[in-house]
Amino acid sequence: MNLPQLPLGVRVMDEDHFVLEQMFARTAEIDDSGLPAHLDAILAEIAAHFLREEAEMERVGVPILHCHRGQHAALLAEGEKLRQAFPGANARGQRRLIVFNLAQLVANHVASVDQISSAFFDKKVDYSKAECVEA
Ligand SMILES: [Fe+2]
Repeated sequence: MNLPQLPLGVRVMDEDHFVLEQMFARTAEIDDSGLPAHLDAILAEIAAHFLREEAEMERVGVPILHCHRGQHAALLAEGEKLRQAFPGANARGQRRLIVFNLAQLVANHVASVDQISSAFFDKKVDYSKAECVEA
């Protein structure tokens, strides 16, 4: 199995995160005219990945799943804002929106809530009394 930059030891996370990293990395090879479709494909993959990840967390009984779902929704909302801004940017700006802005949002998510949630999968940590703190 190919591993992403930050392996978490949860198959659905590591496999999907690797796929997303590969999609971001392919951005440099995409023709300028293909960038909107490339962004759409990445956003669709992120949304599909979130559903797979949430299903697996539900199956395992991760207690902070509702918090994690909120983080997924927030990231998808940011992705939608990025999609709205996309037509107003030139090709260089569009590449930056994908490989810097969106990729960084995903990387930050993986390094924070995904990493915390992954600890529930092998019961390394007992977060049974964990609660979601509203900002
Ligand atoms: Fe996640």
